[in-house]
Amino acid sequence: MDMTMTHDHRFWDRIAPRYFKSPISKPDIYEEKLRRTQQYLTQDMDILEFGCGTGGTAIRHAPHVSHVHALDISQNMLDIAAGQVANAGVDNITFERADTADFDAPEGRYDAVLALSHLHLLKDPAAAIVKARGLLKPGGLFISSTVCLGDKWSGFRLFIALGRLILVFPLVRTFKAEWLRKQVTDAGFEILDDWQPGKSPAVFLIARAR
Ligand SMILES: C[S@@+](CC[C@H](N)C(=O)[O-])C[C@H]1O[C@@H](n2cnc3c(N)ncnc32)[C@H](O)[C@@H]1O
Repeated sequence: MDMTMTHDHRFWDRIAPRYFKSPISKPDIYEEKLRRTQQYLTQDMDILEFGCGTGGTAIRHAPHVSHVHALDISQNMLDIAAGQVANAGVDNITFERADTADFDAPEGRYDAVLALSHLHLLKDPAAAIVKARGLLKPGGLFISSTVCLGDKWSGFRLFIALGRLILVFPLVRTFKAEWLRKQVTDAGFEILDDWQPGKSPAVFLIARAR
């Protein structure tokens, strides 16, 4: 896909090798999110992942579904992901370089849409949730894990904004968990699982399209 390179594209391309090598910060929480997700997955499902990064989660879910279509704006992330898929011997994942905001597919195409550590990085997270609803079949699942920095100390939010100003950080939106839940329900979902482990600012949601 032809895409203009923005600061964010370059940021994610630059950090892709480091992102890949850095260990998952809380493996037990990550495993629990996989487990909660896989409770809802079935072998006939066609799933879409926004902002798949280096493909680790797509690879873990692929054996439980029919197909995973995994998107990311960073070609470097996708190149690493493709290498991982080859090593894992999985053959039901398709990667595509795409911005979540621009991705287009027929309405009602997917059984599940995943957005993990992703919505807070978008200019318009609410639009991405509405897009996910449109792409899902009735009863389809929207599964997200989202850092909600709006609930954090305002000095921390200032730090994020300054980092963005001097272009060392990518775009990071700082909304509250309550705002996120409202966007999900307003878009036409019923929240089935709402998990905020410990003091983490990340909210894990599994929601069903009404
Ligand atoms: C924090 S990483 C999370 C990756 C993966 N979902 C995970 O949980 O490990 C965020 C990913 O979103 C991608 N990304 C950022 N903005 C994007 C956008 N507008 N459209 C698609 N992908 C985007 C980045 O390239 C990066 O791979």
